[in-house]
Amino acid sequence: MNLKVESVLISEEELQQRIEELGQQISHDYAGRNLLLLGVLKGAVVFLVDLAKAIDLPLQMDFMAVSSYGASTQSSGVVRILKDLDSAVDGRDILVVEDIIDTGLTLRYILDNLAMRNPASVKVCALLVKERPREDGIKADYVGFRIPNKFVVGYGLDYADLYRNLPYVGILRTE
Ligand code: IMP
Ligand code: MG
Repeated sequence: MNLKVESVLISEEELQQRIEELGQQISHDYAGRNLLLLGVLKGAVVFLVDLAKAIDLPLQMDFMAVSSYGASTQSSGVVRILKDLDSAVDGRDILVVEDIIDTGLTLRYILDNLAMRNPASVKVCALLVKERPREDGIKADYVGFRIPNKFVVGYGLDYADLYRNLPYVGILRTE
């Protein structure tokens, strides 16, 4: 199978401008709180780094890794913790930073898991949300862009662990 980026969906400039706006909104909403950015490895790393720089507040970062699609463009629906948080989160205001919400299964699992750890609050900031039906009604509190239901890569998003370093989000052509 020959894989190529077919077109640019969101340019580097559009990404950076939107992240600046999200950072300002989050800085406003979390002023005086106990903010912990919780990055979901590996896809959210590129976004989290730029988002953190756009937030003008004291904050801490922690990371969690969960199983994702592997070398497939379909969600398996099976979620597993591969790496847990380093820190305790009780009393913290957690902002889960995700690269993309597709089926919502990964996020559902993470939110259920965090709820058992007694945080002060949990919200979600997703760079991308795919326009598709989602049974469970799960949604992000902060959304970068809503995108068509296509497989995308770049800016942290991978196919078979490749393309994460593209500075833009592109649509992958599978042929
Ligand atoms: P969900 O559980 O179906 O919402 O999928 C969430 C995870 O699947 C994301 O954190 C991504 O790692 C991965 N994912 C979903 N859609 C895409 C895509 O279009 N490109 C790359 N990764 C994706
Ligand atoms: Mg992935």
